[in-house]
Amino acid sequence: GRVLLLLGGWSSERVISLKSGETVLGALQRAGIDVTAMDVRRDFLPELLAAHQAKPFDRAFIILHGRGGEDGQIQAVLELLGIPYTGTSMGGSAIGMDKLACKRIWRGEGLPTPPWAVVATEIEAHRALDSLGLPVMVKPVAEGSSVGVAKVDQPDQLAAAFREAARYGQVMMERYIRGGEYTVSLLGGRALPVIRLSTPHDFYDFDAKYLANDTEYTIPSGLSAEEESAMQAIALKAFEQIGGSGWGRVDFMRDEHGQNWLIEVNTVPGMTDHSLVPMAARAVGIEIEELCLGILAQTLP
Ligand code: DAL
Ligand code: MG
Repeated sequence: GRVLLLLGGWSSERVISLKSGETVLGALQRAGIDVTAMDVRRDFLPELLAAHQAKPFDRAFIILHGRGGEDGQIQAVLELLGIPYTGTSMGGSAIGMDKLACKRIWRGEGLPTPPWAVVATEIEAHRALDSLGLPVMVKPVAEGSSVGVAKVDQPDQLAAAFREAARYGQVMMERYIRGGEYTVSLLGGRALPVIRLSTPHDFYDFDAKYLANDTEYTIPSGLSAEEESAMQAIALKAFEQIGGSGWGRVDFMRDEHGQNWLIEVNTVPGMTDHSLVPMAARAVGIEIEELCLGILAQTLP
């Protein structure tokens, strides 16, 4: 059938999405799929309607990151048009993009996620330090790729971190978990091998994700087989609890006691050359073409 590839978008992660989209477009074309790429800009709806009316799309592959594309908005449009799409439903996408909603669900279901506070002002942010301690992560509630995220080690860094995060909307603070950073990629109800991330940067920030060459990705992760399965099991549960489906990626911190802490879920994870899902898939012999076909096979009706 005819596949519509939605890429770009207008979120702060637009540039990443264009790169992810390039990877997916190439892979689908090499796999012989009839694919039309469409750059999703704020005014793209008439273009989509016209193209769909001229020659209907059978499915959509969503490779939009962040607001507008990963948060249920595009999913709602596709549902109205009756075009099946890859990944998570409209509702699950809205939850997945909202770090607070995810944490509330996970805590309610007994899954471990670091203590947090929602803060509306700098004064509240300072007050939250009493319970959360230092260091602390300061984050926008609904952004991806670590945009607007800072690690605060000293109280005098808090005000600037709060103001930066507040540029992107609601702000939360989260206890910093000392230890290792890990991620679990999910494809069709199955967990792929765990990847460990090490960066000489303060944390796996935007630069470490996309610009630096000094981030190390370790796969196999160095965890024992039991530890790895335990983390994969939490990832699958966490994804299911927020209503995730098709494919995704769940990020963790693992402390020195071996406790796994859920940090966030990505319902449209990056698919750039630097990205983690393709890396995890490759480790079990799934090349990028097969991976993209696998994601496409998981479209919601
Ligand atoms: N939000 C970016 C694209 C990721 O999680 O991979
Ligand atoms: Mg993310």
